[in-house]
Amino acid sequence: MSIPHKSAAFAPTEEFVSNAHVDAAKYDSMYAASIADPDAFWGEHGKRIDWMKPYTQVKDVNYALGNVSINWYADGTLNVSANCIDRHLATRGDQTAIIWEPDSPTDEALQITYKQLHVSVSKMANVLKGLGVGKGDRVVIYMPMIPEAAYAMLACARIGAIHSIVFAGFSPDALAARVNGSEAKVVITADEAPRGGRNTPLKSNADQALLHTSDKVKCLVVKRTGGQTTWVEGRDYDYNALATEASADCPPEEMNAEDPLFVLYTSGSTGMPKGVVHTTGGYIVYASMTHEITFDYKEGDVFWCTADVGWVTGHSYIVYGPLANGATTLMFEGVPTYPDASRFWQVCEKYKVAQFYTAPTAIRALMAQGDEFVKGTDLSSLKLLGTVGEPINPEAWNWYNEVVGGGNCPIVDTWWQTETGGHLMTPLPGAHAMKPGSAMKPFFGIEPVVLEPATGEIVEGNDVEGVLCIKDSWPGQMRSVWGDHERFEKTYFADYEGYYFTGDGCKRDADGDYWITGRVDDVINVSGHRMGTAEVESALVAHPKVAEAAVVGYPHDIKGQGIYCYITLMNGEVATEELRFELRKWVRTEIGPIASPDLIQWAPGLPKTRSGKIMRRILRKIAENDFGALGDTSTLADPSVVEELIKNRMVIP
Ligand code: WTA
Repeated sequence: MSIPHKSAAFAPTEEFVSNAHVDAAKYDSMYAASIADPDAFWGEHGKRIDWMKPYTQVKDVNYALGNVSINWYADGTLNVSANCIDRHLATRGDQTAIIWEPDSPTDEALQITYKQLHVSVSKMANVLKGLGVGKGDRVVIYMPMIPEAAYAMLACARIGAIHSIVFAGFSPDALAARVNGSEAKVVITADEAPRGGRNTPLKSNADQALLHTSDKVKCLVVKRTGGQTTWVEGRDYDYNALATEASADCPPEEMNAEDPLFVLYTSGSTGMPKGVVHTTGGYIVYASMTHEITFDYKEGDVFWCTADVGWVTGHSYIVYGPLANGATTLMFEGVPTYPDASRFWQVCEKYKVAQFYTAPTAIRALMAQGDEFVKGTDLSSLKLLGTVGEPINPEAWNWYNEVVGGGNCPIVDTWWQTETGGHLMTPLPGAHAMKPGSAMKPFFGIEPVVLEPATGEIVEGNDVEGVLCIKDSWPGQMRSVWGDHERFEKTYFADYEGYYFTGDGCKRDADGDYWITGRVDDVINVSGHRMGTAEVESALVAHPKVAEAAVVGYPHDIKGQGIYCYITLMNGEVATEELRFELRKWVRTEIGPIASPDLIQWAPGLPKTRSGKIMRRILRKIAENDFGALGDTSTLADPSVVEELIKNRMVIP
């Protein structure tokens, strides 16, 4: 999969430009203003949110190692749930807030108005209060893509509890680690999660997880399928029964702008996943502004982001951004290929979706199924397309543009991260001629800098490449790692002092447009999901037959990157196909199906320096089939292992 950094540019139509929130001239002047005077710029745009007590301070940020502190609107108070619900009641109480499309197209869909959302969220909030949850307490949400997942998020926000969503595809072990890490009081789950015609037994996963947590943790269970579950009296609570009884009156708690709104665990280059902390005021300002501007969202549009609420994309662009803007947001329980590969397009047609936002991996998978699945549907409602999560290759971009967008829809390639809360770079649809594969331009207030990886020196000018850092703060930035501020500073502010280090590499082309080249650390991106190679390695070495494991990414046609594992077995263990199968299953159980190894190579020896450090650069090259560029192997303790590994390399299927 090659990503050229110079190619044809696609300009938006004149009609699109003339109706857009932001055109080229406006982008230039707003961008310049946002950099020249962030306080004035964000002071003004913070007003898009309703504050209980208005802020008088805007930005208060220190990036100096040892003293990193990030504050926005620090003396203001507000409630995010009131901003996403209550403030819309007078003007759009009967408008649909959430369209819910179930896994099976023959099951009943739901259209939930802002008034109904208000009732359901208030009830859920009172149920949580009844379980002893208060301001500052953590609640883990382990749910299918059902409206109750959004209610749960907003209910936490309403009472000032901090939610931590764990993607429903994660294993009981991964769930337990996150419940313990955040010291949650309650886990909200559902009986089962239907996806692609199969049901995942969420409640029984939660049961297994709760064996490894404090016995004070309570479990609130939402009914989805009615599938039978075991029940632990005194620990498990039936949400549907409690909600029927609960009052629909729950005044929103007054929160400080810097009170945490949520924690979301994400993979890093070392160690176990870290809890990314987002706070209240800056996050909602940034999520709502990027939602409106990047997608050129207008009153009456139906907006669909196909992510899961278990990822940051679902937080910012299914729930918080769209609802803060009074939008109609679509929540889809299923998968793109069930019952067949036309499902996304059927749903777009059914609800007249205006903006459609998905991941390149889904586009590639659907492209491989052929155009017929798209052509049978009416996509004339689409005005804009978006991508997120990984670089998009030009073939997929062109297919998305021509076959799905009919050559008529701008495509916003949005680059951002769990840590950033919202888009940091993207073409703005009415302002920039898009280049397939380029994230193009920084959003307002974002000042990208390209640095020389080894020296950290700024690389000026155009047609350059390096590591990508951001010079200053923006309101949606993460504030800390849950329970470990030192790790926060070390991960993001230590390598290149004075900057936020993104972990990505980039190119700035001759026109000054940005191209993300991928992670420069040991994080890989599998089907748009972030995975730390260290996590997979630690799962593998936990297996009794494994002595050592090294995991790297390799190019994969559909997934973007696949997971390539080198494994040294314990003395006397025999490498067999059965063991390969067993190890795959083992990782799925330890982490979840998204971490399942694609290729496993038996490696009697790994390339190590004389001090015993594994030379991952070499393993990456072998996995990528790029033997010509192995670089210097003279520092290896035993250079012959490299030839051995090349000889026995797994063939990419
Ligand atoms: C990658 C997802 C290229 C990048 C919102 C980043 C992208 C990581 C793009 C964050 C894009 C995300 N083009 N690469 N448009 N968007 N990435 O935290 O490597 O799950 O650092 O957030 O995904 O992944 P995360």
